[in-house]
Amino acid sequence: MRSSLKDTKESIENSSFASRLATKWLGRKIIFFRELPSTQDEIKKYVFSGPHGLVIWADRQSQGRGRLSRSWYSPRAAGLYFSLLLKEPLARPLTLYGLATAVGVVQALEEVVRIPFQLKWPNDILLRGRKLGGILLEAVSKALIIGIGLNVSFRREDFPPEIREKATSIFEETGLLISRAKILRSVLKHLESSYDLLLKEGFSAFEAAWRERDVALGSRVVLRRGEEILTGYALGPSPKGTLLLKTNQGLTEVHSGEILMWEIPGWEKHRAA
Ligand code: BTN
Repeated sequence: MRSSLKDTKESIENSSFASRLATKWLGRKIIFFRELPSTQDEIKKYVFSGPHGLVIWADRQSQGRGRLSRSWYSPRAAGLYFSLLLKEPLARPLTLYGLATAVGVVQALEEVVRIPFQLKWPNDILLRGRKLGGILLEAVSKALIIGIGLNVSFRREDFPPEIREKATSIFEETGLLISRAKILRSVLKHLESSYDLLLKEGFSAFEAAWRERDVALGSRVVLRRGEEILTGYALGPSPKGTLLLKTNQGLTEVHSGEILMWEIPGWEKHRAA
């Protein structure tokens, strides 16, 4: 890796990208890097000096990070890798910012790609049941850093073997090569509305949008919470953003975890055939 990234850094405030960006505060300052270890780590340098709504965007990440201490595969030009800085005091539970982000991102993808996307609690974005995007939330010094990774033009064979079956990209599912700048502009527009709505109205403002796209809603699921495996029926997110799970022991509120398996509509028919 290069010793200094300074010469590969570009502020795109006055670019054609910025002139076509329909937001008031989100992404009014965007700094683009050809390469970074992780946009999450870079944006932390701006927590005090940077504006509310700052975006750090990288063409490639050498140490992209995902949830649950996983790495996030981030090769050059094949995906969107960016982080946002929200400096307002966190007026809502952290999990709700994740749900609001996921809803904003799928609404943007649906606007640009014109096909339906799905959501999996807490904040996975899926296409035809495979993971297309993820969101990483980190609270630091009264600010919130939200990292978003979207697989845009990867071929399945490009993915590391361990995620090849579970991951996908827009290109892989649709054959469409869509401009990342176009996706990012739409994502920022929808996210700005999502965050404004979240502050004003809470989860109720986008609960219907979440439930319409929730792959696990009403389904039997297997969920990992730390070292523990839970099974039950997923009843969807609570107003606090936690997952409500109906288990044999009763109603459980899951604060963090990962849904490992869920029912795919019609699976019983396939099994019987
Ligand atoms: C997940 O595990 O689902 C969350 C993935 C988040 C990846 C994004 S890519 C941009 C930002 N920088 C990182 O290092 N991670 C996030």
